Formats: sequence, C-alpha cells, structure tokens
Amino acid sequence: MRNILVTGGAGFIGCNFVRYLLEQSSGTEVTVYDKLTYAGRLENLKAVSERFGSRYLFIQGDICDAEKVEDAVAARHIDTIVNFAAETHVDRSILDPDVFVQTDVYGTYVLLEAARKYGNLRFHQISTDEVYGHIEGRRRSVENDALAPRSPYSASKASADLFVSAYHITYDLPVTISRGANNIGPFQYPEKVVPLFVTNALESMPLPVYGDGKQMRDYQFVADHCAAIDLILRRGRIGESYNIGTGAEMTNLAMIEILLDELGKPRSLIQHVEDRRGHDRRYSLDVSKTMALGWEPDYTPEEAIRATARWYRDNRWWWQPIRDGEFKDFYRANYAGRKKLEPQ
Ligand code: NAD
Ligand code: DAU
Repeated sequence: MRNILVTGGAGFIGCNFVRYLLEQSSGTEVTVYDKLTYAGRLENLKAVSERFGSRYLFIQGDICDAEKVEDAVAARHIDTIVNFAAETHVDRSILDPDVFVQTDVYGTYVLLEAARKYGNLRFHQISTDEVYGHIEGRRRSVENDALAPRSPYSASKASADLFVSAYHITYDLPVTISRGANNIGPFQYPEKVVPLFVTNALESMPLPVYGDGKQMRDYQFVADHCAAIDLILRRGRIGESYNIGTGAEMTNLAMIEILLDELGKPRSLIQHVEDRRGHDRRYSLDVSKTMALGWEPDYTPEEAIRATARWYRDNRWWWQPIRDGEFKDFYRANYAGRKKLEPQ
C-alpha cells in the first residue's frame, strides 16, 4: 500500500491527479492537504470523495505550517509526498509577489523538512516549463538546461526546484521533479487563458489578448500530465527532472481560433490589449526523456483545447459561481486599466 500526501490536491491539476491515482491503483491511499485558497475548491474532489471514501482523506492546512504538515505526515503514515501546492497565476504574481515567495519557496522547504524528518520520504515536486524562461528560435528546453525564470511566479518555482535538488544532494532525499507545459482541462480556475477565454466567449465578452497574441505555448490535456507524473513516481530515476508536454507548441491566436470555432463564436470577440510585463514569448520542451519511461500523450493540443471548451460549455454550474465571486475583483485589477490595442 502506498500512502501519498498530495498537497494542493483541491486545485486544478491536483484534483485530476488524485482521481487518476485512485482509479489506477487499488493499492494507493491518498491524503489531500490543501489550504483552500481562492483556487482550491472542495467541489473539485466531491466525486472522488463519494467514490473512493475509504482510500481518501482531506485535510485543510497551509504547507507553510510545519507543525500541521508534520502531524498529517505522522498521522497518515505517509511514505510519499507529491507537491502541487502553489500560487500559480503569473498575472497575480506581477500584481502581488509576496504570497508566491511564501508558498512556492518557503512552503516547499517546509515539506522537504517534513520528508527528511520522517525517514527520507519519497518526494516529487510539480514544477513548470516556465523555470527555463523564454526559449529562442527553434531550441527546446532539456532537463539539465540552466534555469532562467523571468516572472515572480517562475522565480519562486525555480527556487523551489533548487531546494528540492539541494535536499537530494545534501540529505540523500529521494526526489524527482517534473516540469510541465500549460495544462488545460476540467476544473481549471477561469483566470488562466483557455478557461478565461472560453467562459468570456460563452458570455459573449471580449477576449483580452496580450500584445500581438503570437506567443507560443504547448497546451497539454491535464490527464496526460497526470499519467506522466504517476509514471515518474514509479519509474523515474531518483535525483532527476523530467519535462512533460506534447512537444508541439502553437501561438495563442491559433489556440483562440480553435476554441472560438468549437463554441461557434465569432472572431470579432478578439480584443488585443496591452501586453503582460516581462511576457515570455515562447516555451518549448524536449519531452523525450519522459517518453523514454514509456509515456506518450493521448491528446494533441488542438484536441485538448476542443475537449476543454466543451467541458466548460457543459459545466456552467462549476464556473459561474467562481466568476460571480472573488474573480470579479481580480478581473478588474488585472484588466480594467489595460490599454486596448488596434487589431494586429
Ligand atoms: P491551482 O492554482 O489550480 O491550484 C493550487 C492549489 O494549491 C489550490 O488547491 C490551493 O488551494 C493550493 N494552495 C495554494 N497555496 C497553498 C498553501 N500555502 N498550502 C496548501 N495549499 C495551498 O494550480 P494548478 O494549475 O493545479 O497547478 C498545480 C501545480 O502545478 C503548481 O505547483 C503549478 O506551479 C504547477 N504547474 C501548473 C501548470 C498549469 O498549466 N496549470 C503547468 C505546469 C506546472
Ligand atoms: O507553462 C506552464 C505554466 O502555464 C504554469 O506553470 C502556470 O501555473 C500557468 O498559469 C501557465 O502560465 P502561463 O502564463 O503560460 O498561462 P496563462 O494561462 O496565464 O497564459 C497563457 C498565454 O496566454 C500567455 O502567453 C499569456 C496569454 N494570455 C493570458 C491571459 C490570462 C493572454 O493573452 N490574455 C490573458 O488574459
């Protein structure tokens, strides 16, 4: 029996991962440890709790709270920690970086200490392709590239990666790190571009495209990301990092055209606005090291975008209360003062 602590398991990727784990292996128990920030929602785990109640437990807590983390690890006889817990939105990190340093850096350190104290537990860190920074030309990032983060969010995530590696080298902690490209799919908070644009389009509101919209991203379906993480947990080499993505990036404008077509909405909803500060123009991952473990994605980016658009079209019950709540304040703070640009 594996006893896994999934921190941040009430968020977008975390809740999909918890369901994936419980469905895949009957020999796994999962404890979700989550602070329930604006992005963490218990309804994301409702179906999991109903279906896998005897193998699943939820604990509300902050990863920066060392005592509570250690209590959870001890009480649940945890042997593996998978850390999804983080502040995750680049635009919020530009507006207010403080909590990113707290959670993404200090919180990761607290978890590493708990793993060390309780017998060098297996530790997996969920990281991001953003730690490599903007990638020029046709180059792809490989796992031993230097980290070159450019936003407060990615700087916090890169710092966490360095702590995780340092704990392996210094204390022999059995760690792995995965660096994922942009995830999309069910239960993503509608501040991120695909769910934001789908929900705006469903409400016939403009889609605020930063700058010329020619930035390149690799939009992968969240279930593919979860399958790769599970494989790395089981077959990854201790001390190593792994990139996860489809390996095929597209411009934001191409992504927008796909989602508008899927929803039957007009291109006239596209509104170019003042760019994000320090906007990384391109991410691009070489994913051959993860594929060599025996994984490949089921969805192309286009299939992932279409499936995501359909999920939001069919699940208004989930996102409408979010858009009617705290989200409104964030939307105003991030978008109200932004200059509109001419079509590009
Ligand atoms: P999310 O914002 O949807 O969820 C984050 C979760 O962490 C929420 O449930 C939140 O309540 C919880 N959390 C935040 N601060 C916490 C704290 N101090 N203590 C305990 N819980 C806390 O994020 P996501 O998109 O699911 O991302 C999950 C992880 O994957 C993050 O580490 C992120 O950096 C990484 N990642 C995300 C993407 C992406 O495209 N979304 C891609 C690559 C990597
Ligand atoms: O690449 C992995 C990362 O992907 C994760 O580590 C982050 O947690 C996740 O938020 C995401 O970061 P991005 O900055 O790439 O995602 P976001 O959805 O915010 O933006 C995707 C692209 O769309 C980016 O080029 C900016 C652009 N964009 C975004 C928003 C919110 C717009 O043009 N307009 C918008 O309103």
